[in-house]
Amino acid sequence: MNDLIPLVNKLQDVFNTIGSDTVDLPQIIVVGSQSSGKSSVLENIVQRDFLPRGNGIVTRRPLVLQLVNIHTSEDSEPEEYGEFLHASNQKFTDFTEIRKEIEAETARIAGQNKGISRSPMQLKIYSPNVLNLTLVDLPGLTKIPVGDQPTDIENQTRSLIHDYISKPNRHVFIKFVQTYLFDAVSAANVDLVNSESLKLAKQVDPEGRRTIGVLTKLDLMDAGTNALDILTGRVFPLKLGFIGVVNRSQQDIVGNKPMVEALKSEAEFFKHHPAYRSIASRCGTPFLSKTLNNILMNHIRERLPDIKTHINTLIGKESRKLSSYGDPTLEGKSNRGALILKLLTKFANDFVSSIDGTFTDI
Ligand code: GDP
Ligand code: NA
Ligand code: MG
Repeated sequence: MNDLIPLVNKLQDVFNTIGSDTVDLPQIIVVGSQSSGKSSVLENIVQRDFLPRGNGIVTRRPLVLQLVNIHTSEDSEPEEYGEFLHASNQKFTDFTEIRKEIEAETARIAGQNKGISRSPMQLKIYSPNVLNLTLVDLPGLTKIPVGDQPTDIENQTRSLIHDYISKPNRHVFIKFVQTYLFDAVSAANVDLVNSESLKLAKQVDPEGRRTIGVLTKLDLMDAGTNALDILTGRVFPLKLGFIGVVNRSQQDIVGNKPMVEALKSEAEFFKHHPAYRSIASRCGTPFLSKTLNNILMNHIRERLPDIKTHINTLIGKESRKLSSYGDPTLEGKSNRGALILKLLTKFANDFVSSIDGTFTDI
């Protein structure tokens, strides 16, 4: 069943090849205030340093991050690399270069100053250390413009985020979009009810069904205080719950603390903390990745019957169209029709073999 997400990625590729009609993958949208630790969480999930980081607004364009798990075989180290949609012929094996490319592409579209752009950048990361996931990093919410940020920066980011998280209404060809919100709030100064990002999430998800809360900076809370009540859902009810994480501090980053060490310290933190010890297995980055992966898989699984129906309808339609063209050796339309049919049939076959015979009659 873990093959479902790559399968849906493939479906997306098929539709991109066919043309304008497109299928939207369920996505996880990262929402939070500036410097709440969003990029840090994403880096922890990928277990690599690759995102631009710094004070103020660094993420100035939506970054659609598709994580693709590649399997390790005994004898060969798998290659870990990134690929951008805007430079699809280039394989980035050096993650420092990925960061530089994100910065350059951000500047190219959103300008050199601190403005933001709605145009998304797409990055695929292939790694044996990731679970299959699609995450969208968005500019952080901010109240007060800093430096040379535009004066309406708050409204700009707010409306950008709002558009992303209300996306299930978007008109799509095969509609199985469910946008999940992944809400990073800073726990060091928890005032959850007043959290801007939770307020925003509530507008589009009033019942708290598709918002998952992530509490960062638990290590920075005042001695003697803790966030156990939040993590156990007693403060703010979310169906998907809250997960606590500890990312690298600014000092850790400056000192180049390796990611493996960071994950180890995070695990130690929860295991030995008097308040979190009892829930340690439901805290931390590995648990967060696993949970996000499960959410997406369950969602896709629910949509399988619809996907199957749509694919069947398409195959039928394309076959009829193709036979109406007459001579299959003719150039143009019939070639295109044949290609579409081939892609769809191939996809349908892969689909069947990937889902354990759930839909053998496709
Ligand atoms: P973003 O603006 O939401 O993407 O936030 P960043 O990931 O860039 O983090 C902002 C700052 O907070 C950086 O200096 C991080 O090192 C620091 N930070 C993030 N998460 C944590 C955490 O869990 N603990 C500590 N101590 N610092 C953190
Ligand atoms: Na930041
Ligand atoms: Mg960021």
